[in-house]
Amino acid sequence: MCPSEAAAPGGPSPSDPGPGPGQGDPEAARAGAILTIDLDALAENYRRLCAELNGVPCAAVVKADGYGLGLTRVAPALFRAGARSFFVAQLGEAIALRGALPEAAQIYVLNGLAAGPAAEFQAQRVVPVLNSLGEVADWRRAARQGAHQAQHELAAALHVDTGISRLGLPAGELDTLVAEPERLEGIELSHVMSHLACADAPEHPLNAAQLAEFRAARARLPAAPASFANSSGIFLGPDYHFDLGRPGVALYGINPTPGRPNPMRQVVRLQGKILQVREIDAPRTVGYGATHRAAGPTRVATVAVGYADGYLRSLSNRGSAWLGNQRVPVVGRVSMDLITLDVTGAAPDSAHPGALVDLIGPELPVDDVAEAAGTIGYEILTALGQRYHRVYLGG
Ligand SMILES: Cc1ncc(COP(=O)(O)O)c(C=O)c1O
Repeated sequence: MCPSEAAAPGGPSPSDPGPGPGQGDPEAARAGAILTIDLDALAENYRRLCAELNGVPCAAVVKADGYGLGLTRVAPALFRAGARSFFVAQLGEAIALRGALPEAAQIYVLNGLAAGPAAEFQAQRVVPVLNSLGEVADWRRAARQGAHQAQHELAAALHVDTGISRLGLPAGELDTLVAEPERLEGIELSHVMSHLACADAPEHPLNAAQLAEFRAARARLPAAPASFANSSGIFLGPDYHFDLGRPGVALYGINPTPGRPNPMRQVVRLQGKILQVREIDAPRTVGYGATHRAAGPTRVATVAVGYADGYLRSLSNRGSAWLGNQRVPVVGRVSMDLITLDVTGAAPDSAHPGALVDLIGPELPVDDVAEAAGTIGYEILTALGQRYHRVYLGG
């Protein structure tokens, strides 16, 4: 359900300065980095997507611990913003979500009945996304057993594969289901769904091809609401919206329209703590493998974040941070617990032990970090480590 007050914020929101490092909080003082998650920005992103869907209900995809941001904090904030249907990948995630949000209307498990026994889905009030004829048969069997206990039809979503070749009924299984509709007896089809492979590339011909295949599949199946669009799919236009949007990553601030301005607000800020600052002079190298060599007098700040925290090793000699008003490069290799920054160009009083540098922040959005790392924002978010002191704003 989309809230009626879902007026769209017009475009990119201004950068938030974000909070301080949790001053006075001993846990924050001990942590090597502070991860701030802005639940108000998350809620605004949900409403922004609702506005784009223009009246079509909008679910929220909260798998992988709410894309790394904390399922039990993210999902209730989305519920308060108006979300009623939630998608996770695994049954364990669904059970955790049901515990955190008993009032959620629907919790769907994308990995379907392969993720766990039908009885557990029923006991936890969790809806499977049926991905094969075998799963359809299992759910029907569960429905038949439920019929003895005077239960109603069992709700499920049915996933048809229209071109991503991952999960969902392949064409041959769809043919069988259409020829033998009794296979769906006892099952209430809450949605027929499919998933786009190239939604972030609007010009890709597979988008239109999948849309056509999805429409054709729906026409052959019993009438049921449909769900097709992920974050980027929502921005492909109304033809892709059907009856339920299914965004994930855009909620968390990643740009669903690559190459165009990001319509979403940044949700995440990651501030690493400087442990030491040292002056070095050429010839001198920095870090494992001696992959960076100082060209002259250089100040190096060592920050308490490493690949064990999800700061990807591919950011070695490629990433950057913001210190004061200055972009400072990562020099040398990212190690398990540490990175090294060349802070020669930063204001001398800004680089000192205890100072915080933005590794993700207003000037350094997740998408930019991902690009420097040679990956996508999804991976940066879902890799965010467990050692960070987490601060949740608003919500
Ligand atoms: C089936 C399905 N639907 C929706 C989503 C949400 O996609 P996005 O995060 O790109 O919005 C995913 C994410 O991988 C998915 O697998």
